[in-house]
Amino acid sequence: MSAPLVARPSSYVHEQLDNICRLDALHTAQYKYFGDRLSFAPIYGMDPARIIDLGCVEGLVHQAAKDFPKAEVIAVDRNPLPQIIATFHRISKFLNADLTQDLPFKDGSFDIVHVRHVFIHVPNSTGDLLARAARLLKPGGWLLVEENDIERLALTAGPAVSRLASTYGAIVRGYGADSGAMRALGMFKEVNLKNLTIPMCRPSPDEMEDQLREAYRQTIILTGESLCNKFDGLTPELAVQVRKDMDNLSETGMFDMYFFWCRRS
Ligand SMILES: C[S@@+](CC[C@H](N)C(=O)[O-])C[C@H]1O[C@@H](n2cnc3c(N)ncnc32)[C@H](O)[C@@H]1O
Repeated sequence: MSAPLVARPSSYVHEQLDNICRLDALHTAQYKYFGDRLSFAPIYGMDPARIIDLGCVEGLVHQAAKDFPKAEVIAVDRNPLPQIIATFHRISKFLNADLTQDLPFKDGSFDIVHVRHVFIHVPNSTGDLLARAARLLKPGGWLLVEENDIERLALTAGPAVSRLASTYGAIVRGYGADSGAMRALGMFKEVNLKNLTIPMCRPSPDEMEDQLREAYRQTIILTGESLCNKFDGLTPELAVQVRKDMDNLSETGMFDMYFFWCRRS
Protein backbone atom coordinates (compact mmCIF):
# COMPACT_ATOMS: atom_id res chain seq x y z
CA MET A 1 0.00 0.00 0.00
CA SER A 2 1.36 3.42 -0.87
CA ALA A 3 2.11 5.91 1.88
CA PRO A 4 -0.68 8.44 2.63
CA LEU A 5 -0.22 11.83 1.08
CA VAL A 6 0.94 14.35 3.62
CA ALA A 7 0.00 17.97 3.05
CA ARG A 8 2.56 20.49 4.12
CA PRO A 9 1.14 23.44 6.06
CA SER A 10 -0.12 25.89 3.49
CA SER A 11 -2.86 28.29 2.66
CA TYR A 12 -5.04 27.66 -0.36
CA VAL A 13 -5.39 29.17 -3.80
CA HIS A 14 -6.85 32.52 -2.93
CA GLU A 15 -3.87 33.66 -0.94
CA GLN A 16 -1.65 33.46 -3.96
CA LEU A 17 -1.84 36.08 -6.62
CA ASP A 18 -0.26 33.68 -9.12
CA ASN A 19 -3.10 31.28 -8.65
CA ILE A 20 -5.70 34.00 -8.99
CA CYS A 21 -4.06 35.01 -12.27
CA ARG A 22 -4.04 31.36 -13.34
CA LEU A 23 -7.77 30.98 -12.66
CA ASP A 24 -8.50 34.28 -14.34
CA ALA A 25 -6.56 33.18 -17.42
CA LEU A 26 -8.78 30.08 -17.55
CA HIS A 27 -11.84 32.26 -17.10
CA THR A 28 -10.76 34.55 -19.96
CA ALA A 29 -10.05 31.60 -22.26
CA GLN A 30 -13.47 30.09 -21.50
CA TYR A 31 -15.27 33.40 -21.95
CA LYS A 32 -13.67 33.75 -25.39
CA TYR A 33 -14.41 30.11 -26.19
CA PHE A 34 -18.10 30.70 -25.47
CA GLY A 35 -18.02 33.61 -27.97
CA ASP A 36 -17.41 36.48 -25.51
CA ARG A 37 -20.17 35.15 -23.30
CA LEU A 38 -20.36 33.45 -19.93
CA SER A 39 -21.91 30.30 -21.36
CA PHE A 40 -23.38 28.65 -24.42
CA ALA A 41 -26.75 28.89 -22.61
CA PRO A 42 -29.14 31.53 -23.98
CA ILE A 43 -28.84 33.73 -20.90
CA TYR A 44 -28.26 37.01 -22.73
CA GLY A 45 -31.90 37.26 -23.80
CA MET A 46 -32.99 37.29 -20.19
CA ASP A 47 -32.78 39.99 -17.60
CA PRO A 48 -31.44 38.15 -14.56
CA ALA A 49 -32.04 39.76 -11.20
CA ARG A 50 -29.73 37.48 -9.20
CA ILE A 51 -26.67 35.48 -10.19
CA ILE A 52 -24.61 33.30 -7.86
CA ASP A 53 -21.15 31.83 -8.42
CA LEU A 54 -20.50 28.81 -6.18
CA GLY A 55 -16.76 28.44 -5.52
CA CYS A 56 -15.85 31.76 -7.04
CA VAL A 57 -13.16 33.47 -9.00
CA GLU A 58 -12.81 37.18 -9.52
CA GLY A 59 -12.83 37.17 -13.34
CA LEU A 60 -16.17 35.39 -13.67
CA VAL A 61 -17.90 37.46 -11.00
CA HIS A 62 -16.54 40.69 -12.40
CA GLN A 63 -17.64 39.70 -15.93
CA ALA A 64 -21.12 38.66 -14.77
CA ALA A 65 -21.54 42.06 -13.09
CA LYS A 66 -20.40 43.73 -16.32
CA ASP A 67 -22.58 41.67 -18.67
CA PHE A 68 -25.64 41.99 -16.42
CA PRO A 69 -25.26 45.41 -14.77
CA LYS A 70 -28.72 45.30 -13.22
CA ALA A 71 -28.18 41.93 -11.57
CA GLU A 72 -27.11 41.30 -8.02
CA VAL A 73 -24.04 39.07 -8.30
CA ILE A 74 -23.15 36.94 -5.30
CA ALA A 75 -19.90 35.06 -4.91
CA VAL A 76 -19.57 32.14 -2.48
CA ASP A 77 -16.38 30.47 -1.35
CA ARG A 78 -15.06 28.78 1.76
CA ASN A 79 -11.87 30.78 1.45
CA PRO A 80 -11.98 34.51 2.08
CA LEU A 81 -11.56 36.78 -0.89
CA PRO A 82 -8.12 38.35 -0.94
CA GLN A 83 -8.11 42.06 -0.35
CA ILE A 84 -6.94 42.86 -3.86
CA ILE A 85 -10.15 41.39 -5.26
CA ALA A 86 -12.45 42.73 -2.58
CA THR A 87 -11.06 46.21 -3.03
CA PHE A 88 -10.73 46.60 -6.76
CA HIS A 89 -13.70 44.84 -8.25
CA ARG A 90 -17.39 45.20 -7.99
CA ILE A 91 -18.98 42.24 -6.33
CA SER A 92 -22.47 42.72 -4.99
CA LYS A 93 -21.87 40.37 -2.13
CA PHE A 94 -19.30 37.82 -1.01
CA LEU A 95 -20.42 34.99 1.23
CA ASN A 96 -17.82 32.99 3.09
CA ALA A 97 -19.53 29.56 3.22
CA ASP A 98 -18.97 25.84 2.82
CA LEU A 99 -20.76 24.32 -0.17
CA THR A 100 -21.19 21.01 1.64
CA GLN A 101 -23.75 22.83 3.82
CA ASP A 102 -27.02 24.48 2.89
CA LEU A 103 -26.60 28.12 1.94
CA PRO A 104 -28.62 30.93 3.55
CA PHE A 105 -30.74 31.61 0.46
CA LYS A 106 -34.34 30.70 -0.24
CA ASP A 107 -34.99 27.95 -2.75
CA GLY A 108 -35.78 29.36 -6.17
CA SER A 109 -34.14 32.72 -5.56
CA PHE A 110 -31.59 32.88 -8.42
CA ASP A 111 -31.88 33.24 -12.18
CA ILE A 112 -28.38 31.89 -12.83
CA VAL A 113 -26.25 29.54 -10.75
CA HIS A 114 -22.68 29.11 -11.97
CA VAL A 115 -20.27 26.41 -10.77
CA ARG A 116 -16.85 25.95 -12.35
CA HIS A 117 -13.99 23.67 -11.38
CA VAL A 118 -15.61 23.07 -8.00
CA PHE A 119 -17.39 19.72 -8.32
CA ILE A 120 -14.05 17.95 -8.21
CA HIS A 121 -13.28 19.55 -4.83
CA VAL A 122 -16.51 18.82 -2.98
CA PRO A 123 -17.37 15.42 -1.47
CA ASN A 124 -20.48 13.79 -3.02
CA SER A 125 -20.75 16.78 -5.32
CA THR A 126 -22.75 15.10 -8.09
CA GLY A 127 -25.39 14.32 -5.46
CA ASP A 128 -25.43 17.03 -2.83
CA LEU A 129 -23.89 20.02 -4.58
CA LEU A 130 -25.79 19.48 -7.81
CA ALA A 131 -29.08 19.23 -5.91
CA ARG A 132 -28.23 22.26 -3.78
CA ALA A 133 -27.38 24.30 -6.89
CA ALA A 134 -30.59 23.21 -8.64
CA ARG A 135 -32.72 24.17 -5.62
CA LEU A 136 -31.35 27.70 -5.69
CA LEU A 137 -32.77 28.24 -9.18
CA LYS A 138 -36.02 29.94 -10.01
CA PRO A 139 -38.23 28.04 -12.45
CA GLY A 140 -36.72 28.65 -15.89
CA GLY A 141 -33.34 29.64 -14.38
CA TRP A 142 -30.07 28.30 -15.72
CA LEU A 143 -27.47 26.13 -14.03
CA LEU A 144 -24.11 26.65 -15.75
CA VAL A 145 -21.33 24.19 -15.01
CA GLU A 146 -17.83 23.82 -16.37
CA GLU A 147 -15.71 20.99 -15.10
CA ASN A 148 -12.77 18.89 -16.22
CA ASP A 149 -11.40 15.41 -15.73
CA ILE A 150 -7.75 15.37 -14.71
CA GLU A 151 -7.77 11.56 -14.49
CA ARG A 152 -8.01 11.29 -18.27
CA LEU A 153 -4.77 13.25 -18.40
CA ALA A 154 -3.24 10.89 -15.84
CA LEU A 155 -3.80 8.04 -18.29
CA THR A 156 -2.67 9.76 -21.46
CA ALA A 157 0.05 12.34 -20.78
CA GLY A 158 3.82 12.18 -20.34
CA PRO A 159 5.16 10.45 -17.23
CA ALA A 160 5.63 13.52 -15.04
CA VAL A 161 2.22 14.99 -15.92
CA SER A 162 0.66 11.56 -15.38
CA ARG A 163 2.24 11.38 -11.95
CA LEU A 164 1.10 14.89 -11.07
CA ALA A 165 -2.44 14.21 -12.33
CA SER A 166 -2.79 10.86 -10.57
CA THR A 167 -1.37 12.34 -7.35
CA TYR A 168 -3.77 15.25 -7.62
CA GLY A 169 -6.58 12.70 -8.04
CA ALA A 170 -5.38 10.92 -4.89
CA ILE A 171 -5.28 14.20 -2.96
CA VAL A 172 -8.83 14.98 -4.01
CA ARG A 173 -10.02 11.45 -3.15
CA GLY A 174 -8.23 11.84 0.19
CA TYR A 175 -10.75 14.45 1.26
CA GLY A 176 -13.69 12.49 -0.13
CA ALA A 177 -14.10 14.24 -3.48
CA ASP A 178 -13.68 12.82 -6.98
CA SER A 179 -11.46 14.41 -9.62
CA GLY A 180 -13.57 12.63 -12.27
CA ALA A 181 -16.87 13.73 -10.71
CA MET A 182 -18.41 14.69 -14.05
CA ARG A 183 -17.12 11.78 -16.10
CA ALA A 184 -20.51 10.14 -16.63
CA LEU A 185 -21.58 13.26 -18.52
CA GLY A 186 -19.08 12.30 -21.22
CA MET A 187 -21.60 9.62 -22.27
CA PHE A 188 -23.83 12.38 -23.62
CA LYS A 189 -23.10 14.51 -26.64
CA GLU A 190 -24.78 17.78 -27.32
CA VAL A 191 -28.03 17.98 -25.31
CA ASN A 192 -27.01 21.08 -23.39
CA LEU A 193 -23.72 19.37 -22.81
CA LYS A 194 -20.48 19.93 -24.62
CA ASN A 195 -17.81 17.41 -23.90
CA LEU A 196 -14.57 18.85 -25.24
CA THR A 197 -11.50 16.63 -25.49
CA ILE A 198 -8.42 18.75 -25.98
CA PRO A 199 -5.15 17.28 -27.28
CA MET A 200 -3.12 19.05 -24.63
CA CYS A 201 0.28 19.27 -26.30
CA ARG A 202 -0.76 19.94 -29.87
CA PRO A 203 -2.12 23.28 -31.13
CA SER A 204 -5.72 23.09 -32.29
CA PRO A 205 -6.69 24.60 -35.65
CA ASP A 206 -9.60 26.26 -33.81
CA GLU A 207 -8.20 29.51 -32.38
CA MET A 208 -10.59 29.72 -29.42
CA GLU A 209 -10.08 26.06 -28.56
CA ASP A 210 -6.36 26.64 -28.80
CA GLN A 211 -6.49 29.52 -26.32
CA LEU A 212 -8.39 27.26 -23.95
CA ARG A 213 -5.82 24.49 -24.42
CA GLU A 214 -2.98 26.93 -23.77
CA ALA A 215 -4.67 28.29 -20.63
CA TYR A 216 -5.06 24.74 -19.29
CA ARG A 217 -1.53 23.79 -20.33
CA GLN A 218 -0.23 26.72 -18.31
CA THR A 219 -2.48 25.93 -15.35
CA ILE A 220 -1.21 22.36 -15.20
CA ILE A 221 2.39 23.59 -15.20
CA LEU A 222 1.60 26.13 -12.45
CA THR A 223 -0.43 23.59 -10.47
CA GLY A 224 2.56 21.25 -10.61
CA GLU A 225 4.79 24.01 -9.28
CA SER A 226 2.46 25.02 -6.48
CA LEU A 227 1.58 21.47 -5.36
CA CYS A 228 5.21 20.41 -5.40
CA ASN A 229 5.83 22.88 -2.64
CA LYS A 230 2.96 21.63 -0.55
CA PHE A 231 2.75 17.84 -0.70
CA ASP A 232 5.35 15.29 0.25
CA GLY A 233 6.21 13.06 -2.66
CA LEU A 234 5.78 15.79 -5.27
CA THR A 235 9.27 17.15 -5.74
CA PRO A 236 10.44 20.34 -7.43
CA GLU A 237 12.18 18.07 -9.97
CA LEU A 238 8.77 16.67 -10.87
CA ALA A 239 7.51 20.20 -11.52
CA VAL A 240 10.40 20.72 -13.92
CA GLN A 241 9.53 17.44 -15.68
CA VAL A 242 5.85 18.42 -15.82
CA ARG A 243 6.83 21.61 -17.58
CA LYS A 244 8.98 19.60 -20.00
CA ASP A 245 6.13 17.13 -20.67
CA MET A 246 3.73 19.97 -21.29
CA ASP A 247 6.24 21.69 -23.58
CA ASN A 248 6.91 18.49 -25.49
CA LEU A 249 4.79 18.75 -28.60
CA SER A 250 5.33 15.08 -29.45
CA GLU A 251 3.33 13.99 -26.38
CA THR A 252 -0.32 13.22 -26.88
CA GLY A 253 -1.87 14.05 -23.50
CA MET A 254 -5.63 14.48 -23.73
CA PHE A 255 -7.73 16.64 -21.43
CA ASP A 256 -11.50 16.43 -21.11
CA MET A 257 -13.74 19.37 -20.31
CA TYR A 258 -17.46 19.36 -19.72
CA PHE A 259 -19.62 22.41 -20.23
CA PHE A 260 -23.24 21.95 -19.41
CA TRP A 261 -26.18 24.22 -19.09
CA CYS A 262 -29.51 23.05 -17.78
CA ARG A 263 -32.76 24.93 -17.54
CA ARG A 264 -34.78 24.50 -14.35
CA SER A 265 -38.28 23.24 -14.94
C1 LIG B 1 -10.26 25.45 -8.69
S1 LIG B 1 -11.03 26.74 -7.81
C2 LIG B 1 -12.20 27.29 -9.00
C3 LIG B 1 -12.64 28.70 -8.74
C4 LIG B 1 -13.55 29.31 -9.78
N1 LIG B 1 -14.87 28.70 -9.82
C5 LIG B 1 -12.93 29.31 -11.15
O1 LIG B 1 -13.60 28.96 -12.12
O2 LIG B 1 -11.76 29.67 -11.27
C6 LIG B 1 -12.06 25.90 -6.65
C7 LIG B 1 -12.73 26.86 -5.70
O3 LIG B 1 -13.71 26.15 -4.96
C8 LIG B 1 -13.62 26.53 -3.62
N2 LIG B 1 -14.14 25.42 -2.81
C9 LIG B 1 -13.72 24.14 -2.80
N3 LIG B 1 -14.44 23.41 -1.94
C10 LIG B 1 -15.34 24.26 -1.39
C11 LIG B 1 -16.36 24.12 -0.40
N4 LIG B 1 -16.60 22.95 0.20
N5 LIG B 1 -17.08 25.19 -0.07
C12 LIG B 1 -16.85 26.40 -0.65
N6 LIG B 1 -15.90 26.61 -1.58
C13 LIG B 1 -15.15 25.55 -1.96
C14 LIG B 1 -12.14 26.79 -3.39
O4 LIG B 1 -11.90 27.63 -2.27
C15 LIG B 1 -11.76 27.45 -4.71
O5 LIG B 1 -11.91 28.84 -4.67
